[in-house]
Amino acid sequence: MGGWTEGYVGGIDYIRAIYRDWSPALLCFALTLRGWRPPEALRRGSFTMAEPGCGHGLTTALLAGAHPAARFEAMDFNPSHIAGVRRLAADAGLSNAAFLEDSFAEYARRDGPMLDAVALHGVWSWVSAENRAILLDTLRRRLAPGGVVFLSYNALPGTFAHMPLRRLLVERCAEGSGPLPDRIAHAVEFAARMAAQGGGWFANTEGVVERIEQLRHKSPNYIAHEYLNGDWTAFYHADVARDLMAAKLEFAGAAVPMEQLDDLTLSAAQQALAAEASDPARAETLRDVMTNRSFRRDLFVKGGERLSPAERRALLGETRFTLLVAVDDLPEVASTPAGRLPFPRSLYRPLGEALAEGPQRLDALLARPALAAQGDAALLRALALLTSLSLAAPALPEDGFDGRKASCDRFNAMVLDRHRFGDTPGQLASPLLGAGVPVSRIEALFLLAARLGEEPAAFAWRHLSTDGIVLGRDGERCEGDDANRAELTRRHATFLQRRLPLLEALGVV
Ligand SMILES: C[S@@+](CC[C@H](N)C(=O)[O-])C[C@H]1O[C@@H](n2cnc3c(N)ncnc32)[C@H](O)[C@@H]1O
Repeated sequence: MGGWTEGYVGGIDYIRAIYRDWSPALLCFALTLRGWRPPEALRRGSFTMAEPGCGHGLTTALLAGAHPAARFEAMDFNPSHIAGVRRLAADAGLSNAAFLEDSFAEYARRDGPMLDAVALHGVWSWVSAENRAILLDTLRRRLAPGGVVFLSYNALPGTFAHMPLRRLLVERCAEGSGPLPDRIAHAVEFAARMAAQGGGWFANTEGVVERIEQLRHKSPNYIAHEYLNGDWTAFYHADVARDLMAAKLEFAGAAVPMEQLDDLTLSAAQQALAAEASDPARAETLRDVMTNRSFRRDLFVKGGERLSPAERRALLGETRFTLLVAVDDLPEVASTPAGRLPFPRSLYRPLGEALAEGPQRLDALLARPALAAQGDAALLRALALLTSLSLAAPALPEDGFDGRKASCDRFNAMVLDRHRFGDTPGQLASPLLGAGVPVSRIEALFLLAARLGEEPAAFAWRHLSTDGIVLGRDGERCEGDDANRAELTRRHATFLQRRLPLLEALGVV
């Protein structure tokens, strides 16, 4: 690739994904839950946010659509990533986001506004030590006092188990010739054939056979960017925390609210052991050892301000929450890092019903007798679980809703239009959440048909059949136009009944 990739995998784009982890309302909730004052600019909606190594830039583009009063900078050295997102931004009329075709070193030489928040997702473990130092320097210079950094990385000790897999894939891909996606597919099949023999590392490492099986269903784009970079480093949390101190950053807690709930994954005796550590970074590392963590999503703050218990409670009390699923679709068990936990009906049913009425402040929820009976702590814990599992989300303050709605409408019109061709960010921007709401291509085509005054099943089928897509029902293929249109008519009725009310409540239509 002409030497510009600096050891990063070249010749294959990253997957086109949108992440909710650093959406402002979720950042504010996670910080407040852990007892930190969230940056005022994030709470007000007039912040500046950057995403170095943004890939296709879809998360930043969606956030820019949902936060018209904020400013965004996203950068990546891969020109095809930046070309694609610039076209998308132009189509959506985004004037508050810059998408820069920069290496980290080039970006570090730019001047720009001070940043309230920086997201580094899928970057830290996959670039060289030199590039991490450059990123640290950028954080040191550009992050505003009080600012927050979202940082994800492969963690130790859990990643130890996967190191031979990375090695196997790298070696096998280097041996073959031909296009990289083919070499990746062959390498994964080779690993699966080895795994099928059992014994050795496969027999002695929990979860590795399942991981190889999962890789068979992943795109080569994901596998290339996850496993095939020249640099691939897993970290103990304590080492990351120490490195970030050079940029005056302090560990603030897990970005995923439920990962802050120690008792989910640790016994009382294990929690006591973690508490013996002399500082939070060491305690966190002990927790990772006891839970064998392999991936972390951390928040760091620069000059973060601690909240008193009363201020924390007051800020949480003002926080609004909303459901992301129909109340009847709330599951009876939660899949958590600690395995499957029951959602007790006596708590989750009244909570779900209250949230189904519309966004509610925590204080308003606690004013309901059925929820008051559960108490503050149980309710907060339930909300931490629901928000982490994408079943609920913290909502933005009411202030500024109209401006956000107009901007989201523009952004969403562009997204829906792209679904005609399948060239899509598969999420719509919500002015209530300030974040994305996933929609399938079929749902998007139904919404587009409604806008255009077309018959939904016929409209959706025209576009799907052009792309050679055939629907299925009860494990059987729908053969012919009539069967596919009938299936789409049936799905449209379900869509109107179950999904549309939710999409309307979230302000995306
Ligand atoms: C795994 S992707 C993550 C993308 C995005 N943050 C996300 O989570 O969807 C890492 C991205 O970092 C970019 N990257 C790697 N090294 C870089 C460098 N030295 N300068 C700029 N971008 C770089 C790659 O092109 C790639 O798009």
